[in-house]
Amino acid sequence: MQGADDSLAAQFAYTAAVAGGAGAEEGQDAVTLWAVSDLHVGARGNRELVVDLVRPRNPGDWLIVAGDVAEDLDVVVDVLGELRQRFAKVIYAPGNHELYARAGHGPVGKARYEELIRRCRSIGIYTPEDPYQQFAGHTIVPLFTLYDHSWRDLTATPEEAIDEAKAQGLVLSDYYMIRPFVDIPQWCRERLAYSVRRLGQVTGPTVLVNHWPLAQESLRRVRYPEIGLFSGTRHTQQWAKRYRAATVIHGHLHIPLGIEVDGVPHVEVSLGYPRERKRSLPPRQKMSLWPYPVMSTPRTSGPKTNNEERRGGQ
Ligand SMILES: [Fe+2]
Ligand SMILES: [Fe+2]
Repeated sequence: MQGADDSLAAQFAYTAAVAGGAGAEEGQDAVTLWAVSDLHVGARGNRELVVDLVRPRNPGDWLIVAGDVAEDLDVVVDVLGELRQRFAKVIYAPGNHELYARAGHGPVGKARYEELIRRCRSIGIYTPEDPYQQFAGHTIVPLFTLYDHSWRDLTATPEEAIDEAKAQGLVLSDYYMIRPFVDIPQWCRERLAYSVRRLGQVTGPTVLVNHWPLAQESLRRVRYPEIGLFSGTRHTQQWAKRYRAATVIHGHLHIPLGIEVDGVPHVEVSLGYPRERKRSLPPRQKMSLWPYPVMSTPRTSGPKTNNEERRGGQ
């Protein structure tokens, strides 16, 4: 087992090298932007871990939550509300699990997303629909871009690729719990247009935050390439560079590693399901990589952290 831990630590070496506050000795004069994703608090033991581990190191720290908190919107809002009590700001990019629905049980499809956003805003969480916030001179951009099945063998049509994945039992639950209620590729196109419009108005460096990876290279470690069908879109491939990202934060893959694409770190910050985190969390904790420290800044030049920026009730 020691060997397994060593090899995991080696895999996390790049992630540690690009972490903004990993193992940092900053005293109370620093504020840190942390990131987590895929909390999946319905899974045994995960909520307890969130309560224990997802805490600010210093007053004024911020938190990114990159999707897949839970399926039940009451639970999602409850967890985000708890985190909002601890962190000066919480920036949230919804994932696919928040969209999981059954006919006759609450809002579905786009109405579910809108309901989630409305409830997040009511507790002061920053969503992809809100003004972008600035941390240490970086614009923090939460995205919600979905997927369009374009990460596939392009000799097959999307329908053929999905049928093939289905035959192999490699479709995500999205197929049964989101797809019946909304045309996901069409919604993805709308989200891309919306995001490009807003990103085009941003100047200076950014941190791009999305549940799904932005670059196809992030999928290299996924065991089954079919998962790529439901994991992003080729249209975001150049975004990190185009929009001057210092870092891309994402989740969804449950493979918590950072990789470099065109000189930009793309870091997967998932907690994951128990069988996954039991292996990946201890070495990350040892290396101060979960929650993931995106960047730190001295408090004196850092963001405002008092209640004047606290929002709510919109
Ligand atoms: Fe997930
Ligand atoms: Fe996901």
